[in-house]
Amino acid sequence: MAARSSLFLLCLATATAGVLQARAQPDSKGFISVDCGLPGKTSYIDDKTKISYASDDGFTDGGKHYNVSPEYIKPAVTARYYNVRSFPDGARNCYTLRSLVAGLKYLIRATFMYGNYDGLNKLPVSFDLHIGVNFWTVVNITDPIQPVNREAIVVVPDDSVQVCLVNTGAGTPFISGLDLRPLMNKLYPQVNATQGLLQLARLNFGPSDETSIRYPDDPHDRVWFPWFDAAKWNEISTTNRVQNIDNDLFEAPTAVMQTAVTPINASNNIDFFWNSQPQPNDPAPGYIAIFHFSELENLPNNASRQFYININGILFDDGFTPSFLYAEASYSSKPFVRHPQYNITINATANSTMPPLINAVEVYSVISTANIGTDSQDVSAIMTIKAKYQVKKNWMGDPCLPRNLAWDNLTCSYAISNPARITSLNLSKIGLSGEISSSFGNLKAIQYLDLSNNNLTGSIPNALSQLSSLTIFTGGEDDDGWLMVDNNDGAAGGRQRQRWRTVEGAARAVEGRRRGEQRDLTGNQLNGTIPPGLLKRIQDGFLNLRYGNNPNICTNGNSCQPPKNKSKLAIYIVVPIVLVLAIVSVMTLLYCLLRRKKQVPFFTYKGSMNNSVKPQNETMRYGPTNNGSRHNSSLRLENRRFTYNELEKITNKFQRVLGQGGFGKVYDGFLEDGTEVAVKVRTESSNQGDKEFLVEAQILTRIHHKNLVSMIGYCKDEKYMALVYEYMSEGTLQEHIAGKGNDGRYLTWKERLRIALESAQGLEYLHKGCNPPLIHRDVKGTNILLNTRLEAKIADFGLSKVFNPENGTHVSTNKLVGTPGYVDPEYQSTMQPTTKSDVYSFGVVLLELVTGKPAILRDPEPISIIHWAQQRLARGNIEGVVDASMHGDYDVNGLWKVADIARKCTALSSAHRPTMTDVVAQLQECLELEDKHQNNSTLEMEQNFGRIPSITGGPAAR
Ligand SMILES: *[C@@H]1O[C@H](CO)[C@@H](O)[C@H](O)[C@H]1NC(C)=O
Ligand SMILES: *[C@@H]1O[C@H](CO)[C@@H](O)[C@H](O)[C@H]1NC(C)=O
Ligand SMILES: *[C@@H]1O[C@H](CO)[C@@H](O)[C@H](O)[C@H]1NC(C)=O
Ligand SMILES: *[C@@H]1O[C@H](CO)[C@@H](O)[C@H](O)[C@H]1NC(C)=O
Repeated sequence: MAARSSLFLLCLATATAGVLQARAQPDSKGFISVDCGLPGKTSYIDDKTKISYASDDGFTDGGKHYNVSPEYIKPAVTARYYNVRSFPDGARNCYTLRSLVAGLKYLIRATFMYGNYDGLNKLPVSFDLHIGVNFWTVVNITDPIQPVNREAIVVVPDDSVQVCLVNTGAGTPFISGLDLRPLMNKLYPQVNATQGLLQLARLNFGPSDETSIRYPDDPHDRVWFPWFDAAKWNEISTTNRVQNIDNDLFEAPTAVMQTAVTPINASNNIDFFWNSQPQPNDPAPGYIAIFHFSELENLPNNASRQFYININGILFDDGFTPSFLYAEASYSSKPFVRHPQYNITINATANSTMPPLINAVEVYSVISTANIGTDSQDVSAIMTIKAKYQVKKNWMGDPCLPRNLAWDNLTCSYAISNPARITSLNLSKIGLSGEISSSFGNLKAIQYLDLSNNNLTGSIPNALSQLSSLTIFTGGEDDDGWLMVDNNDGAAGGRQRQRWRTVEGAARAVEGRRRGEQRDLTGNQLNGTIPPGLLKRIQDGFLNLRYGNNPNICTNGNSCQPPKNKSKLAIYIVVPIVLVLAIVSVMTLLYCLLRRKKQVPFFTYKGSMNNSVKPQNETMRYGPTNNGSRHNSSLRLENRRFTYNELEKITNKFQRVLGQGGFGKVYDGFLEDGTEVAVKVRTESSNQGDKEFLVEAQILTRIHHKNLVSMIGYCKDEKYMALVYEYMSEGTLQEHIAGKGNDGRYLTWKERLRIALESAQGLEYLHKGCNPPLIHRDVKGTNILLNTRLEAKIADFGLSKVFNPENGTHVSTNKLVGTPGYVDPEYQSTMQPTTKSDVYSFGVVLLELVTGKPAILRDPEPISIIHWAQQRLARGNIEGVVDASMHGDYDVNGLWKVADIARKCTALSSAHRPTMTDVVAQLQECLELEDKHQNNSTLEMEQNFGRIPSITGGPAAR
């Protein structure tokens, strides 16, 4: 019987080393090809496959690179093995492969050749490989020049995957190469979310030469090793194309299928076998085999070829007739029971006039991928934190799992059915510098956060106040110096506990009394005020904040004056402020009730604390106005009221038109003090009725946010109606995406991200900051306006509706509103808009920002941008969707992330869409990634001689 000795020997062409830019991301085929240990940021194109191999810079932050000993550098050894990365430090070291499509199948291949790189000539070396939080396989290297290949096919649950080398005390782990190839989900049906395949062999029967087949002959770049035993087999072959049938589950490439073997003696069988691999750590339940067949001879009518496949004498296939020049397979969907050896016999059936044949075979064992990693939002946040502050430690792989490899300086909670969560993080005294990342606020289950005694600067982000769903406040256990308001009365505590039980399940209840959440920021260089969200959480008793020893923090709310040491005072000041606020509110209310028609100056006080704080006690009221009467109680406009004559003067007799909408025209104007304004005048024939016009006026007088366009005044002069807005000199986002902005230049990716984030913040305010929430109902590129500084503001509230969160519906509706291409299909079918309808439309805007294309593409046939982008993204093809006018100057990971946010926002079912709050948090992370990218690429430009600059005249990074 034939031996398997050459199964894992990779003898591919040597490679040339043309230096290109190294990129830690997939190429246009979705391939990631890493030559581990290649120094610097170089890459080269492999002569034979034309695949570009990049150094591992940016894929891992551990280990050292080495060349193999000179005696192993020879033409027979492919260049990929000339260097390795070795990991003497840390129990686990990982490579992160990014920009993947969550839920897609991937082939992951790691290669190892020792080549005496450490000069110690010490073998065997053995270590474990993990894919994410799942054990993959043991690598056992016994021969210095024989490469070892490990390959798996798995479903990747997130948009990135980690391949980790785990030191098991049997030598220093090292690696030569790492590949990732996307596979369509229909391929290898044995692979699903909880089960992957580990390759044992992939053999191409027949070719008598020694070359293996891979890319480009196999578009999936599987490696098919030749196998021919001249003593027992005849080779048959064809030069005709062997086609894949429709819905082929394995897509064996034609080059492999064009050769086959038959027994030399036509009455004999084809016999071969494989042995089970001794793998102490691998509880592999057995093997899966895939036999590939195609008839290569055009048989006359009276001839036939049919055969059985037997495994260890048990019938596996009861009669297979290969089709002429079509690839087909006989395969097992479940693993065979484990045996030490598997004997395969392929013998002709009694009816067959031809001997049996076989073209190719694949053998796999089954690996479990059922372990789920730490909550992906936690991972994403902690990874951003790690990158931003360059935290080294043992921060490799999943933060919480496996438990024996969990990261230092943090603790996790582990639940049976939910992903692990990060519950505390102690980064005290480790020299953190720069601002406090908003990602800390994205650790949504964090109870205890200690950033004390570092060099953190800037202000305290409001994000630190993010409500954690696990919180249970018991209070009263804190030492002096904590800023807290104790409201631990029995009723409130009981209610809180109740909520916590229902949210997280009774299992967590055993964790019992927790302290309130803690944030320790003492001993830094922070400045500014305690943000209102944080203040509120402190006042509500959920949070203890410690911030002493930050000389520039001031604590009296809105008026932040030069540094004085006021931190002690704050403890006493906060409570009175709350009281004053409460009194003011009550007075305000009374005042309103008693005297409805006058303005209430107190309102502005609360608004001024921070742009994004809503006037809390105000509830919005809308009602149809009656015939424009001057004493309309439901329209209490607080802004300036203009007469028609004034408008004429302001706009110089309505001379310059800025734009036109369904309501009428928008004119350019100047107030007396020279402030430029936009004046929206309703024409009588307009299809935007009085009601919409007033709705907009009312909304804009009552809500104020830096990302919502602000109204300066209005005019209601018998038959004329007009609204006067702040002037947004850069026009609509739509124009800029289409390259029709004022200066005709295209937006950079960073500008797009900023605009996305700011618009998202505006919408979030409508949904979360307003009580009851407001649904905009017409979110689109033309309703996002930009000012001189390209700051984005949401405009056009004429269609906005109040959302009643109690029963999940808005007050009333009878007609579908919105703009084609942006309208939520669920709203379309139910006629009930929700805040998630805005999320859907915003997802479309995100896609416009990524692709530079309109919501509905017209060429060749109308297609929604959502489908257009999804078709391409599902194939892992980001470059096929991204707006070429950005000249490739972006962090591709951030781009993928935005595309993924857009995908989630445009989910068909609103329940699967994120909230605007989630979207804001995610976009903030993208912006941080992009900042990092820009820093890196400047560096790269300076250091890496020979890099092909990707910007040819685009704007310089600011
Ligand atoms: C590695 O292979 C060698 C030689 O086959 C064997 O003696 C050793 O036990 C193996 N080690 C492990 C950890 O599998
Ligand atoms: C994956 O396949 C295995 C074996 O067929 C099955 O037991 C398991 O439930 C499947 N998992 C999923 C998530 O479908
Ligand atoms: C496989 O074949 C070999 C040699 O013919 C034999 O010794 C062995 O017992 C067979 N194994 C099984 C599981 O049938
Ligand atoms: C084919 O081979 C198997 C295993 O050796 C044997 O059990 C079976 O009887 C054979 N069938 C025929 C038709 O020869």
